[in-house]
Amino acid sequence: MKSLSNFLSIRYAGISLMVLILALGFALPLPVFADAAITPPVKIQHPPFAEAKCLSCHKAAADGKPSPKTFIMNQPDLCYQCHERKDKNTVIHPAMKGKCTACHSAHESAIKPLLKSKVEDMCTTCHLHDDLGMDLPIKHLALVMSKSCVRCHNPHSSPYPKMLKAVTPILCTYCHTDMGRDLNNENVHIHPAVYLGCENCHAPHGSENPKLLKQMPNDLCFTCHDKKMIDGGHPKAGHPTSGQPDPIYKEKDLSCISCHKPHFSPNKKVLRYNFNTAPYDGSICSVCHWQVVMSPPGPPRPDWND
Ligand code: HEC
Ligand code: HEC
Ligand code: HEC
Ligand code: HEC
Ligand code: HEC
Ligand code: HEC
Ligand code: HEC
Ligand code: HEC
Ligand code: HEC
Ligand code: HEC
Repeated sequence: MKSLSNFLSIRYAGISLMVLILALGFALPLPVFADAAITPPVKIQHPPFAEAKCLSCHKAAADGKPSPKTFIMNQPDLCYQCHERKDKNTVIHPAMKGKCTACHSAHESAIKPLLKSKVEDMCTTCHLHDDLGMDLPIKHLALVMSKSCVRCHNPHSSPYPKMLKAVTPILCTYCHTDMGRDLNNENVHIHPAVYLGCENCHAPHGSENPKLLKQMPNDLCFTCHDKKMIDGGHPKAGHPTSGQPDPIYKEKDLSCISCHKPHFSPNKKVLRYNFNTAPYDGSICSVCHWQVVMSPPGPPRPDWND
């Protein structure tokens, strides 16, 4: 209640606070106070405000009281009197050129830490959903988590591009922990693209394509691999890599990922499927061309993720 009494003593100087409270108290029917539904959210006060150190920010007016609109210095220096600099890293959020109070309240807020609005709402006042790809049909569910933006970005500055909290793939494995475990497994072959960064293949916020892919295979793969590699066929002369259904997963198109896994695999050349065990002969060819090694009805369908 300290803040209220401070404000009241400024704005209603001359009126006794006690009289005001009594007047309000009698004018309003008591049950209003008992209704939990209208209890305002608890506001957390900024210590210098709570402790009435108003003049650590405001200039004093002629009467010695804080002048509401003039300050002892400009932001951000005003805030750096007591806070560590927030712009020490190489990648600095351009919003830091403005005022800290673009995002923070100087006095009090119900949203920690002294935020003017919920993180997502705050960030998207300047960054439109559209520009971030958040309106596209496939959404990254990381974005529905509370304080989503600052799970991946530092709001002030960072040593990493786009003020990320870490480079990918590390950043992504904060939540995709199973993938983090696999990437540290010495017994798997890792597609080097993963080290170059998950964002080479996935959009971080939203995408038109399933699995947040920036493009669908095979175009996705050709952003780094020379398209000429399939001239004449791959992996063997005359072998198709697109243009018909995958014979094992007929609902999918035949593509690079019919034979290769995008991230890692226990097999060399990040090949898909556990073809080293029976009924296959240790060659990926016999997964699709099983007729070569056995007669119908053929083996049960192997797991896509094996
Ligand atoms: C940490 C610095 C800081 C402290 C401490 C502080 N203020 Fe402020 N105050 C500000 C800033 C900055 C603004 C401008 C509001 C904005 O930019 O969001 C402001 C605005 C105001 C205003 C204008 C109306 C409003 O709320 O925007 C009043 C009145 C005011 N302060 C009174 C006080 C009083 C009284 C105290 C002490 C109890 C106090 N302030 C303590 C920084 C401070
Ligand atoms: C007179 C010293 C002082 C000034 C000036 C000051 N602060 Fe603070 N601020 C504090 C103290 C003390 C705390 C509580 C301890 C802490 O978390 O650092 C705090 C806490 C905060 C927090 C919450 C931190 C958390 O982890 O919960 C934010 C955000 C903040 N201040 C922003 C600002 C901004 C923005 C300004 C400038 C408009 C400012 N402060 C100016 C002293 C100050
Ligand atoms: C673009 C919006 C934005 C601006 C501008 C901004 N902040 Fe923040 N700040 C945030 C958000 C969001 C958090 C919460 C981060 C989290 O929870 O991980 C935060 C956290 C903080 C904290 C507590 C955690 C920490 O990093 O110490 C302090 C203190 C703080 N800000 C001070 C400042 C000061 C001082 C300025 C101006 C130099 C400033 N902020 C400018 C959005 C902003
Ligand atoms: C007051 C306006 C404002 C707010 C609020 C704001 N930003 Fe920004 N931000 C900018 C501007 C301006 C740029 C530079 C132009 C651009 O890239 O759109 C920028 C750029 C960025 C960039 C790209 C930086 C780079 O290196 O290319 C990221 C990431 C970012 N903001 C994240 C955030 C996050 C997360 C929040 C919420 C905590 C946020 N922004 C809130 C104004 C803002
Ligand atoms: C899962 C992690 C993650 C979350 C959550 C996230 N971002 Fe990003 N964001 C990224 C990555 C990674 C990039 C860099 C993409 C790249 O380099 O291609 C990025 C880039 C950006 C950029 C730069 C835009 C550009 O095209 O370069 C802005 C602005 C931005 N994010 C804002 C936000 C805002 C606002 C939120 C919250 C609504 C948010 N981000 C949530 C990971 C995330
Ligand atoms: C803050 C937590 C968090 C971070 C960090 C994070 N993700 Fe996610 N991601 C999720 C959640 C939650 C889901 C939905 C559940 C699931 O599929 O595991 C998801 C799903 C996905 C999906 C599957 C989408 C689909 O449609 O099936 C992809 C792809 C993905 N994330 C990529 C990334 C990439 C790339 C990064 C790093 C830039 C990243 N994630 C960082 C939380 C996170
Ligand atoms: C070379 C491109 C590429 C890179 C780099 C890449 N991915 Fe993927 N990712 C894909 C493709 C293609 C799929 C779809 C696989 C499918 O449909 O079976 C996928 C699927 C996913 C899925 C959905 C679940 C699954 O396994 O099918 C998640 C989550 C995911 N990726 C996260 C990541 C993360 C995190 C990183 C960085 C560590 C990353 N990806 C790097 C291409 C890539
Ligand atoms: C971001 C760039 C990038 C993208 C996108 C990419 N790759 Fe790669 N890939 C590499 C690099 C770098 C290597 C290692 C050098 C080389 O073999 O060309 C590699 C190697 C490979 C290898 C050989 C692995 C080994 O163990 O020798 C295969 C197979 C492969 N990629 C398949 C794919 C497929 C399939 C896609 C699409 C889903 C794809 N790549 C997309 C960068 C990429
Ligand atoms: C029908 C299965 C199949 C398809 C489809 C396929 N590959 Fe391959 N790929 C293989 C096999 C098998 C090897 C290993 C060849 C070897 O070791 O001699 C291989 C090897 C590779 C290599 C490593 C070449 C080297 O010299 O080390 C790359 C890169 C590659 N494939 C990329 C792709 C890309 C990109 C696509 C999609 C355009 C694709 N593959 C489609 C089966 C396939
Ligand atoms: C993901 C499934 C798949 C894998 C794995 C696969 N193929 Fe194929 N292969 C096909 C499809 C689809 C065709 C075209 C339809 C057909 O002829 O059955 C084809 C066609 C062929 C043909 C006939 C080509 C022509 O000229 O008409 C040969 C030979 C062949 N594959 C050999 C191989 C060899 C050798 C391997 C292992 C290196 C292999 N395939 C791996 C799916 C696969």
